Amino acid sequence: MRPARLMKVFVTRRIPPEGRAVLAGAADCEVEQWDSDEPIPRKELERGVAGAHGLLCLLTEKVDKKLLDAAGASLKVISTMSVGVDHLALDEIKKRGIRVGYTPDVLTDATAELAVSLLLTTCRRLPEAIEEVKNGGWTAWKPLWMCGYGLTKSTVGIIGLGRIGQAIARRLKPFGVQRFLYSGRQPKPQEAAEFQAEFVPTSQLAAESDFIVVTCSLTPATKGLCNKDFFQQMKKTAVLVNISRGDVVNQDDLYQALASGQIAAAGLDVTTPEPLPTNHPLLTLKNCVILPHIGSATHGTRNTMSLLAANNLLAGLRGEPMPSELKL
Ligand code: NDP
Ligand code: DGY
Repeated sequence: MRPARLMKVFVTRRIPPEGRAVLAGAADCEVEQWDSDEPIPRKELERGVAGAHGLLCLLTEKVDKKLLDAAGASLKVISTMSVGVDHLALDEIKKRGIRVGYTPDVLTDATAELAVSLLLTTCRRLPEAIEEVKNGGWTAWKPLWMCGYGLTKSTVGIIGLGRIGQAIARRLKPFGVQRFLYSGRQPKPQEAAEFQAEFVPTSQLAAESDFIVVTCSLTPATKGLCNKDFFQQMKKTAVLVNISRGDVVNQDDLYQALASGQIAAAGLDVTTPEPLPTNHPLLTLKNCVILPHIGSATHGTRNTMSLLAANNLLAGLRGEPMPSELKL
């Protein structure tokens, strides 16, 4: 028997099957979904969310005051299919007593795996090397041709030793990394012990690392953290990898640092904006490897993220503990 009053749920994208199945089976909810792989136009989003009790969104939807106003007082739960929450106006959401679900942990392994892949791809210059094979640039084995930088005996600096930062360090350690440094809001001796990682100021991390991996969350404090000053402190032979959010890196400053040889190379899984326009200056550089934000993109991970997001949403709507609730 259907409950007398159904809760209205709006889903902003076609989500993977496991999450979709859970929502489809919720007899107490009326689910409307933007049934496309492409992002929902803002007008449709504002229309769809009006009067909704629950919103399941992705990192591509900016949930700001205007959208919350469009939703109205009925909105009780926002569930994002992401661990990053920088697209959500958390202060405004908190003020309205709306609960937030997100998807930590389930994407940590996939994202760490991608970060390590990107680091190796960048420091060993794989895209350039592959291109040389195709365009005839490979003429002979030459002692100094296509040389890059290796991890053995290196110092790796991790900006933000959180879930993903630790998972990256765990994967990099067997490559023979000699020293791990990390920066953050405060030392995390328990987490750092596994890698004998040293908590250092950001400037020291910049100056002493051979590889820098950015894995912090995007906040007002981390926006533009990797800027001209930061790059000037880095070694000329150092490689930067960013899997966090594009805005943590000042891209104009990064372009200058890469083009002038201030730093050796950069690998970015995230940019500002996304997608990066195909005529963006960073795409002209051989020492910059850019991926289209695919950190968590394995079939299994995306399915699990959708399942967790759906379960967070339903639990929130039913007044139950969410499997992963963001404490506001
Ligand atoms: P965690 O919350 O576990 O880690 C975030 C880290 O950011 C914490 O270690 C925190 O440090 C650090 N941090 C916060 N403020 C600062 C600061 N001012 N300076 C330096 N570090 C800071 O999150 P996850 O590891 O699960 O995810 C991290 C981020 O990765 C997400 O927010 C998201 O943006 C991004 N991400 C990207 C993916 C991709 O596809 N490329 C996939 C998944 C996530 P402290 O411990 O000191 O608080
Ligand atoms: C996140 O979850 O924040 C990632 O950027 C995408 O999985």
